[in-house]
Amino acid sequence: TRIYIPSDTTAKALGADRLARKMTALAVERGVGLEIVRNGSRGLYWLEPLVEVDTPQGRMGFGPVKEKDLDALFDVEFWRGGQDHPLALGAVEEIPYLKRQQRLTFARAGVIDPLSLADYRAHSGYQGLSNALALDAQAIVDAVKASGLRGRGGAAFPTGIKWQTVLDACAEQKYIVCNADEGDSGTFADRLVMECDPFMLIEGMTISGLAVGATQGYIYLRSEYPLAFETLNSAIATAYANNLLGDNIQGSGCRFDLEVRMGAGAYICGEETSLLESLEGKRGLVRAKPPLPAIVGLFGKPTVVNNVLSLAAVPFILDQGAQAYADCGMGRSRGTLPFQLSGNVKRGGLVELAFGPSLRELMFDFGGGTRNGRPLRAVQVGGPLGAYLPESQWDTALDYEAFAGEGAVLGHGGVVMFDDSVDMSEQARFSMEFCVAESCGKCTPCRIGSTRGVEVIDRIRAGENREANLELLADLCETLVDGSLCAMGGMTPFPVQSAIKHFGEDFVSTPNRVL
Ligand code: NAI
Ligand code: SF4
Repeated sequence: TRIYIPSDTTAKALGADRLARKMTALAVERGVGLEIVRNGSRGLYWLEPLVEVDTPQGRMGFGPVKEKDLDALFDVEFWRGGQDHPLALGAVEEIPYLKRQQRLTFARAGVIDPLSLADYRAHSGYQGLSNALALDAQAIVDAVKASGLRGRGGAAFPTGIKWQTVLDACAEQKYIVCNADEGDSGTFADRLVMECDPFMLIEGMTISGLAVGATQGYIYLRSEYPLAFETLNSAIATAYANNLLGDNIQGSGCRFDLEVRMGAGAYICGEETSLLESLEGKRGLVRAKPPLPAIVGLFGKPTVVNNVLSLAAVPFILDQGAQAYADCGMGRSRGTLPFQLSGNVKRGGLVELAFGPSLRELMFDFGGGTRNGRPLRAVQVGGPLGAYLPESQWDTALDYEAFAGEGAVLGHGGVVMFDDSVDMSEQARFSMEFCVAESCGKCTPCRIGSTRGVEVIDRIRAGENREANLELLADLCETLVDGSLCAMGGMTPFPVQSAIKHFGEDFVSTPNRVL
């Protein structure tokens, strides 16, 4: 019988490796023939480690399984898929959290063995590349344009238009750079792609290379993802060995080379121009735009810089057609966005949805509300530079424009939930403090303004000249928004301003507050 035990960072952190070892030992001891496959994670993190049993009725799940549960699971012969155990979840595909999602990009996550090329191919892998090889470059770019795909790193710039700019640029060398410096708080979708379905990213980058005429790609990976580094390198080696990378891709004579480069732990290196500086071996300092990286990018050459999720969406588009992707979503937000639920949430994990449902549905129908049962009070969407939303905004549709209309961002899809014990003035202080730590230092409003911001918030929290200091803080935020060179300084005020606007009562000093 085939048993699946996830092998991504989260499942491992929750004991999946120990579980696999113990299960193997117990199977031998009890004389049961089990084949243990290490799949990726489906992203249902509250159920990890999620053990799945292959049965004629589909995969049956058990979770979260701890080592101590194994004896009892063997007693009920769990490998037959029987459901006579408190951890039994029934058919995995029928778990409502999963069933109600629209999984386009994450269709294979948790289903396949991430490093098995045969498994990847058996689940539509490399269909998109085969189709792309039959098209000319402009037709590939046109397909991506027609899909409506917008940059999933957070800025939502149309991917097809970015590719067109690079295709139209004249140069001997062009590059594809994948931004895998996933630094937003509460986000893990990029990591899941890389650890659970790495060939999809490799395929997406190869198609991107064919589309714009680039023969070299780099994945710029954050240093906090050592397992993704291993998985990617192993998948890249397999792709080379099977003519899916190199100088004769699928016998077409087309060339595309790919390397993974590790960052050194700076949030600002997720900003595309400082990422390019870092990739060139320099300190991660933001460059002024224009020129855009699409024209003058890596080593001065035209460069596509796309987030992992943008590139990972491409194989589906080239396989199933632009229309199939564009059919999902609402307004100008086409396709799906993998939301990532974290913070104080009952059912944390990855929820891939077509744009359109409300934030409330995401947090309650999928997330199940707070983990500790206290009332939910605030939610930060779009990473540490995203606004905090109060209950009056939870019915906003998950759509780029609808969020912008509320003064908020969807960003990279991170959703961090806070219960009613949160002190929003502390969160506002944290935003400024984060900017102090992560500013690249190039421009004054961000480098110095953030330090002043921490000081002013401290004075407000201590009850010193509240009105005057709130006014000063508003002024400072305006300076950061208008005067910063990049989104780091330009967006740091969003969480601060939204905290003051919607949770003003937390900025009134209380005698017992400990600073
Ligand atoms: P941006 O709006 O300046 O640019 C978006 C992208 O479009 C860039 O790649 C830019 O080069 C490209 N572009 C713009 N005009 C173009 C044209 N005419 N032709 C071709 N390409 C063009 O936004 P930026 O500063 O790159 O990103 C800011 C966003 O990053 C924020 O909205 C934030 O949500 C997100 N972010 C994401 C993080 C993560 O971990 N994923 C971390 C921090 C911020
Ligand atoms: Fe650097 Fe901050 Fe200026 Fe961005 S806003 S360029 S991070 S100093």
